[in-house]
Amino acid sequence: MDRNFALEFVRVTEAAALESARWMGRGDEKAADHAAVEAMRKMLGSISFDGTVVIGEGERDEAPMLYIGEKVGKGHGHSLDLALDPLEGTTICARGGNNSISVIAIAEQGHFLHAPDCYMQKIAVGPEAKGVIDLAASPTENLNRIASAKRCHVEDLTVVILDRPRHAELIAEVRQAGARIYMIGDGDVSAAIATCKPESGVDVLMGTGGAPEGVIAAAALRCTGGDFQGRLVFGKEEEKSRARRMGIEDLDKVYRIDELARGNVMFCATGVTQGAFLEGVRFFSGGAKTHSVVMRSESGTVRYIEAEHHFDRKPRY
Ligand code: FBP
Repeated sequence: MDRNFALEFVRVTEAAALESARWMGRGDEKAADHAAVEAMRKMLGSISFDGTVVIGEGERDEAPMLYIGEKVGKGHGHSLDLALDPLEGTTICARGGNNSISVIAIAEQGHFLHAPDCYMQKIAVGPEAKGVIDLAASPTENLNRIASAKRCHVEDLTVVILDRPRHAELIAEVRQAGARIYMIGDGDVSAAIATCKPESGVDVLMGTGGAPEGVIAAAALRCTGGDFQGRLVFGKEEEKSRARRMGIEDLDKVYRIDELARGNVMFCATGVTQGAFLEGVRFFSGGAKTHSVVMRSESGTVRYIEAEHHFDRKPRY
């Protein structure tokens, strides 16, 4: 895969972030998401590649744009699969909170798990604890292993958990084990990536969030050298049959990071609102500044890009 693609695709997340950031704090999740989706789709259409959305805005019948299976790009050139979320953390953006981002991950065809739109039980850690996590083991066991890999005590670990009633048992067990908890309202992709940044102060992500977000986080952690495991969690029977239709046979399978995102992957993200690892969009007279990250699994290069956009000189796509 041409390494320059990563730099092409960062324009896509920049465009989505710039549009959705206009909706920060305005209480309208749908409008914020719609702005991001439209901008992302338009910008994808300006890139010479033959793209297929495998993780996107949902099934074709429920999402008019960037739905699963939609073809994007100019339609000629390299065939690539995309796992994207134009606005990860719609509620965060609508409320003006921290850590909403626009993300896109790229892989060769067939290299992302075609995850259905259900939940996923997840565990994510940074490079120091790579290879020691096991979703089949208890949270306590995982915390003990992570602490010993990081040569610290469980009490020194900080676990990020989505603040949801479904996590009551998990939270009780983590407290019992002695680790500290950082509860977040939304945005478990950012939280998973944060485990790879020592200055973020978080060591582990645990709990259940969106399955599509799980694939995107796995792609990011492939680039940063972290580790991730996920197991699909189904609600209604209909979710199970949809998963089977999508080719998933073992519904209880624990997916390793390289089963979620295989081969060479690239990952781009742009901050929409202020965050732990990316700054949010800052508008000024006639333009705006964006802060993005571009990463490649092959080289492990992590590039931060601060861009200044001047709206009167922007091309129209
Ligand atoms: P959206 O951007 O689609 O709103 O997702 C935000 C998010 O917090 C994800 O980061 C997370 O995986 C998922 O929602 C959790 O789902 P739920 O809000 O249903 O618990």
